[in-house]
Amino acid sequence: MLVNTLEILKDAQKDKYAVAAFNVYNLETVQAAINVAVKENKPVIIALGERYFPTVDVEGFAAMVHALAAKVPVPVALHLDHAYEKESIIRAIRCGFSSVMYDGSKFDLEENIKHTKEIVEIAHMAGVSVEAEIGSLAKGAYSDEEEGSGTLTDPQSARHFVEETGVDFLAAAIGTVHGMSQGEPKINLELLEKIQEEVAVPLVLHGGSGTPDEIISESINRGICKINVNTEVSMAAVSYLKEYFETNDIVHLSTVMSDVQETIEPVMTKFVQLFSNSKR
Ligand code: 13P
Repeated sequence: MLVNTLEILKDAQKDKYAVAAFNVYNLETVQAAINVAVKENKPVIIALGERYFPTVDVEGFAAMVHALAAKVPVPVALHLDHAYEKESIIRAIRCGFSSVMYDGSKFDLEENIKHTKEIVEIAHMAGVSVEAEIGSLAKGAYSDEEEGSGTLTDPQSARHFVEETGVDFLAAAIGTVHGMSQGEPKINLELLEKIQEEVAVPLVLHGGSGTPDEIISESINRGICKINVNTEVSMAAVSYLKEYFETNDIVHLSTVMSDVQETIEPVMTKFVQLFSNSKR
């Protein structure tokens, strides 16, 4: 069933676990995420980034997710990830996304507040919840995201930002990167603790890929309720395809597409189990 993202994040916040938000791009990646959620009996967030709007028919994609979600007993939310344009957000709201992320992290704090507040007003009128970000993630290896400044979230600014904008959940930059870290990841859990002390809304961790399991568990204990995962799933699929075509003849596209789905499901399962096993 399709649900409002905030609903599942509030449950996660209460019971101290995190919901996986998988970045997806097509039928197979959506099916994989929903299959895993059903098998594990956990909620899941299907996340489509604004950067895929030129290649993915957004209305068709939303209709597909609505249809697949209606068939399963677990809560499924449809989220717009990293949107920079108001038009994209309105388009997503119109076709039934359950939440949107407005990324104004390139602006200074007051400018970010001004834009985010406007998005919150629009989205809330439609019953859609809003994620925003202050601070910005750097880009690691194999990521498809925009390069960010790597600025960490300041706890006082986070408090001011949430109070002024009315956002429903907040992405905190604590040292994770989009993609795989080059070298030892430097994740600042004390900073996360301070942000949690200042901010009551559920917190979001971007850059789930390549983050050590114990850091994930500790971050969930410090208020992270939603964890975004993209690169590790993509890498598993692409490595499978590379190896396959090095050792096999050309096969039918339908075969490789279903093989890709089979390849990524265990990767998604690993994350769903990790995020929920931290439950206290
Ligand atoms: P990874 O690619 O590191 O998993 O991060 C995904 C993400 O944060 C998307 O918003």
